[in-house]
Amino acid sequence: MEYEAKPDLLKGRIILVTGAGDGIGRTASLTYARYGATVILLGRTVSKLETLYDEIIQAGFPEPGIVPMDLSVTSAQDIEQMAEVILDKYGRLDGLLHNAAILGERVPFENYDLDQFSRVMQVNFNSVFLLTRLLMPLLKLSDSASVVFTSSGVGARPQAYWGAYAVSKYAVEGLAKLLADELENTSNIRVNILNPGATRTSMRAAAVPGEDPQTLKTPEDLMGLYLYLMGADSAAENGKTFTG
Ligand SMILES: NC(=O)c1ccc[n+]([C@@H]2O[C@H](COP(=O)([O-])OP(=O)(O)OC[C@H]3O[C@@H](n4cnc5c(N)ncnc54)[C@H](OP(=O)(O)O)[C@@H]3O)[C@@H](O)[C@H]2O)c1
Repeated sequence: MEYEAKPDLLKGRIILVTGAGDGIGRTASLTYARYGATVILLGRTVSKLETLYDEIIQAGFPEPGIVPMDLSVTSAQDIEQMAEVILDKYGRLDGLLHNAAILGERVPFENYDLDQFSRVMQVNFNSVFLLTRLLMPLLKLSDSASVVFTSSGVGARPQAYWGAYAVSKYAVEGLAKLLADELENTSNIRVNILNPGATRTSMRAAAVPGEDPQTLKTPEDLMGLYLYLMGADSAAENGKTFTG
């Protein structure tokens, strides 16, 4: 998306990004901080979050928060505790980027590993439901909050051999659409779906191993869209799907 963000687009905004330590989530976190946001970096590998924290501080951007959380095992209680800390420290939440996901295996359905199915659904969908549900009170405290659900081409149209990944993203899209409908005209929260499309990350390399990564767009190429959906210029967008 061609979008020229104002340098202070996200000044003073409090934005939580899941899967902030790597891939698209890392670039989005750094970009949001560059445009003035205080970013809450949620991820499972603390060293990656700390490296990103240092990078953001060294660049002179607003000090981010760090939430070490493994979404494959997280509970409602863990998320409630996090919500309390965010409320105490920041008073509200203006943005929530659901980005963390795992690919799982790409095999015929009849061979799909049972534990793997549950794990992919837990990370890619159940935790997304829990986070959204339990962070709603904080989002309602914002004058204009944006929730972005990351999907995929196979979330809109599930295809053979994509297994739990496609099912989980299909479910994510369902949740996003339900919520957008429910919140339309009744709140200051907007809800949209973002499909980044094939992007040069380790997930894409695992999904399509024979592909030359140099032929793919980079996470940086997507940042116009990621900024647009978090900033005031998208305040009227709700229930839509945006493709990178
Ligand atoms: N890349 C593409 O071509 C593409 C296409 C369509 C959709 N997407 C979607 O875009 C989003 C970002 O994908 P990506 O390509 O950037 O993937 P990625 O490079 O694999 O990064 C995924 C991020 O999610 C985190 N994560 C994974 N499991 C987690 C868990 N249990 N708890 C907390 N964090 C966890 C990872 O943390 P660690 O680094 O600690 O493992 C990492 O920071 C995903 O929702 C993906 O489905 C990507």
